[in-house]
Parts: sequence; structure tokens; C-alpha cells
Amino acid sequence: MEDRPQIGYSKKVMDHFMNPRNVGDIENADGIGTVGNPVCGDLMQVSIRVENDIITDIKFKTFGCGSAIATASMVTEMAKGKNIEEALKITRQDVADELEGLPPVKMHCSNLAADALHEAIKDYRAKKEGRKEAIEEPAR
Ligand code: FES
Repeated sequence: MEDRPQIGYSKKVMDHFMNPRNVGDIENADGIGTVGNPVCGDLMQVSIRVENDIITDIKFKTFGCGSAIATASMVTEMAKGKNIEEALKITRQDVADELEGLPPVKMHCSNLAADALHEAIKDYRAKKEGRKEAIEEPAR
């Protein structure tokens, strides 16, 4: 196939692998999600900045392979600017589709980024609830 190098990665995967977007972590992030891949043991961390329930900034760090890097880069682009409800609906399959597919043997790698994003949102919500309780706690 012309658009797909012999190793089976689409041009989009190669682009996000070679030039990953949003690498790193956010200082004092509003939410952090870390997940491990049960298949290979690799790790992914996603941190988010949230303002008025909109993800205004997002970064990732991973010990994963090229497919994990490419999918995380894509997830950060898909999630940035979305409200957290919409971002929670980003599925593992959406990310793989957006990257124009991944070789079947690497599909497990693509799970990390979406799962870490969901965990970061859960963490944000938990912190927010905590803050709410702290604010609502009557002064003694
Ligand atoms: Fe571990 Fe791809 S082999 S994330």
C-alpha cells in the first residue's frame, strides 16, 4: 500500500511518533492519570489543566513504544479544547481510527493513552469534589 510503509504504520502514526505533540507534564495539574499496560508493562501518564470544565492544556509522558507515543500524541490533540464530558467519550478505538489504524499486534499500545486521559479526568473530578467539600465545610 502506497500510504502505508511496509512495517504497517500509517503516515499519521509515523508523523505523531516522529513529532509527538504535548510531551511532558503540567506543573500543578488539575488532574493526573497514570496507567500501566497489562500486556507489556509499559506506563503512560497524562496530566490536564481544566478551566470551567474545558481541557485547556494536556501533556503526556510514557515509557511505551512508538505506537503508545503516537496514540498519546493524538489523544492530547483530540482532547484539548473539549469539555470533560466530551473528552470522556474519546475511546481507544476513536484514537486508533483517527490515526488511520494500527497493526493488530500494537492495538494494546493504543489503549494506554485513552485510559490515562479518563483517569486524569476522574482525578480532576475527585479533586474538585474534595475542594467543594472543603469550601462547603462550615467554619468553626
Ligand atoms: Fe508497550 Fe507498546 S509495547 S505500549
